[in-house]
Amino acid sequence: MKVVEQIKEPIYEEMELFEKKFKTSMSSKVALLNRITHFIVNRKGKQMRPMFVFLVAKMLGKGKINERSYRGAAVIELIHTATLVHDDVVDDSNQRRGFFSINALWKNKIAVLVGDYLLSKGLLLSIENEDFDLLKIISVAVREMSQGELLQIEKARNLDITEEIYYEIIRQKTATLLAACCSMGAKSVDAEDEDVAKMHEFGELLGMAFQIKDDLFDYSEQKIGKPTGIDIKEQKMTLPMIHALNTMERSDKNWLIKTVKNHNKDKKRVREAIKRIKEAGGLDFAKEKMESFRVRAIELLKTFPKNTYRDSLELMVNYVIERSI
Ligand code: IPE
Ligand code: IPE
Ligand code: MG
Ligand code: MG
Repeated sequence: MKVVEQIKEPIYEEMELFEKKFKTSMSSKVALLNRITHFIVNRKGKQMRPMFVFLVAKMLGKGKINERSYRGAAVIELIHTATLVHDDVVDDSNQRRGFFSINALWKNKIAVLVGDYLLSKGLLLSIENEDFDLLKIISVAVREMSQGELLQIEKARNLDITEEIYYEIIRQKTATLLAACCSMGAKSVDAEDEDVAKMHEFGELLGMAFQIKDDLFDYSEQKIGKPTGIDIKEQKMTLPMIHALNTMERSDKNWLIKTVKNHNKDKKRVREAIKRIKEAGGLDFAKEKMESFRVRAIELLKTFPKNTYRDSLELMVNYVIERSI
């Protein structure tokens, strides 16, 4: 059995039902919007966030979940989708989930508005059902994600990023939403406050590993359904480059900074920069850090009693860093 199937086994029915609910949660009376949301639903991603919601909810809810867990999962996936639609505008990226991005097909104007629509649909789903405790978790995540993307842009302009700032960026833009999945899953089944907080931390740790993995993909030539090698073009400095800059000789360092600053659209020079970052051990360094976040997440998970859901969560954390898309 493939590892993803193994992970999903204890939440198979929940994921089936989730998909139906997720589909209806997007519907609109505007024909154009409906065409686009159809397009989105048909090109679904890995759906890791709802999987985390259900696995955590079942682990802490003695194998039972409720409508709040389903709504929580739908809200998170709606918001995740909204941020991807916006992110592809921000990153000027024309490919997503193995096909054209919304901005590539319908242009930026429409992509911005569709992202806003999905965000509002997510928030309303919580409000209409008076899931205010869940809404609070999700609203914090939304704020953090926009702050994280803006901090990233600020650092890309000044090219003055440090390892610490990098962690702060990825914590905000990615890890908080995964933290929200896990704490929401716990909250939806009325877990103890202490367990909700622990699950938040668990999600944050695995979310850090998740984004380091995503940033490593950008240095690979693997087919992952979205462009690779575009982070330097967008002056995004991620862990491999930060490490290279910290260890290189002054002249090499200046060459690399100049590449990012003035020659970031020059494909040949960017390729050379990627090569030098690899030679400086940038990828190995990032992998080590990713591994240490993974270990911390697993340690935290192991403080909960063992059951099939915890086993799946453990597999899921390992999948985060071993996945091929
Ligand atoms: C992509 O997330 C955005 C990041 C936070 C790196 P996913 O890799 O979970 O995207 P999908 O939903 O599977 O397409
Ligand atoms: C994560 O950053 C984006 C969000 C948190 C929305 P990236 O820009 O690296 O994500 P991808 O690679 O486009 O999916
Ligand atoms: Mg992007
Ligand atoms: Mg990326």
